[in-house]
Amino acid sequence: MPKRILLTGGAGYIGSHTYVALVEAGHEVVILDNFVNAHRSVGGRLERITGKPVTLVEGDIRNAVTLATLFAEHAFDAVVHFAALKAVGESMARPLDYFDVNVGGLTTLLRAMEAAGCRRIVFSSSATVYGVPDEAPTPETAEFRAMNPYGQTKILGEQMLDWLGQSNPDWAIGILRYFNPAGAHGSALIGEDPRDIPNNLMPFVAKVALGELERISVFGDDYDTPDGTGVRDYIHVEDLARGHVLSLDRLFESGDSHCVNLGTGRGYSVLEVIAAYKRACNRDLPHTIAERRAGDVPVYVASAEKAEEILGFRTEKGLDEMCASSWKWVSNTGAHE
Ligand code: NAD
Ligand code: WQD
Repeated sequence: MPKRILLTGGAGYIGSHTYVALVEAGHEVVILDNFVNAHRSVGGRLERITGKPVTLVEGDIRNAVTLATLFAEHAFDAVVHFAALKAVGESMARPLDYFDVNVGGLTTLLRAMEAAGCRRIVFSSSATVYGVPDEAPTPETAEFRAMNPYGQTKILGEQMLDWLGQSNPDWAIGILRYFNPAGAHGSALIGEDPRDIPNNLMPFVAKVALGELERISVFGDDYDTPDGTGVRDYIHVEDLARGHVLSLDRLFESGDSHCVNLGTGRGYSVLEVIAAYKRACNRDLPHTIAERRAGDVPVYVASAEKAEEILGFRTEKGLDEMCASSWKWVSNTGAHE
């Protein structure tokens, strides 16, 4: 059954891919985004991919009037909530901005939902809520450990949603803890497009492949991992997007809430990622070993069983497809603003 969905942050990296997956699943989707970390041109590109007109509202999740107007106009059945600030280092420098948008913005959104009687939400959480986990693969039962203000805002968001669900059983809440999203849409029309020098590995490697940055610094090669470099569970953004469609389906079918990891259950080291990207772009990717990055975790790998059991979610695309689609996107310079 088609549903009316509000997609906050839908012009961003994961949100834009989820927009495509939701529209392809037959849903009617309205995007709300303030473009603090997205390009306005994404609307036209989403129209090219889906072949349908896009409804993209420029506005802020912290603005209660904007939200009330949107809910009055559209009678949404559910919200998929991506809008947030997400840079770990920046959150250390500007913690109040992170609490304001990620916690305050979520509160304003949930109040608007309550007022409109719309009580189904899928929330973007992160493996970062586990801090330095005791075990890898990490199950959803692992405890919360905030390592920085960004991680703290995701923990607070989850806890707020949990208490809200306990206050009123009409709420159906899907909490999705993403591991390391990577790759781009197969059309090469949307993907990750950081405005500054990227902090994350995959977009940094992409810029070295393009020749925009000189070399990759590998942050530490003395971790207790097979080749000494950090290991992460990279998940293709198109797989991740599909996870949101399944989460919504589950909320509508069961009325029950869920909290699951979205990852592949398989980790790759920094050197393995560089080697895979090299295969994809067929260029030299100079790298040097550098100091460990402060606050880094040696291994982040998802325990992926619960998402499969509850949502029927299994990833379909591997690291080579992530690198190939990333390269196709970043080298498709015409698609960028
Ligand atoms: P992104 O920055 O590309 O997307 C976020 C979008 O929200 C952007 O388009 C931005 O313009 C918008 N936005 C920010 N503040 C807003 C506000 N106040 N009002 C309206 N719109 C606003 O980031 P992303 O990588 O697509 O991440 C999406 C979500 O997933 C975030 O909640 C993030 O914390 C979470 N997450 C991301 C990762 C990752 O590695 N990319 C991992 C785990 C979780
Ligand atoms: C991956 C690996 C680095 C850059 C971050 C956030 C997390 C989540 C996902 C939102 C690590 C190494 C990196 C570089 C390197 N985001 N690396 N050279 O740190 O796992 O997670 O993004 O929720 O909250 O913390 O991702 O891509 O930065 O790093 O060697 O130039 O690559 O040390 O081992 P991370 P990442």
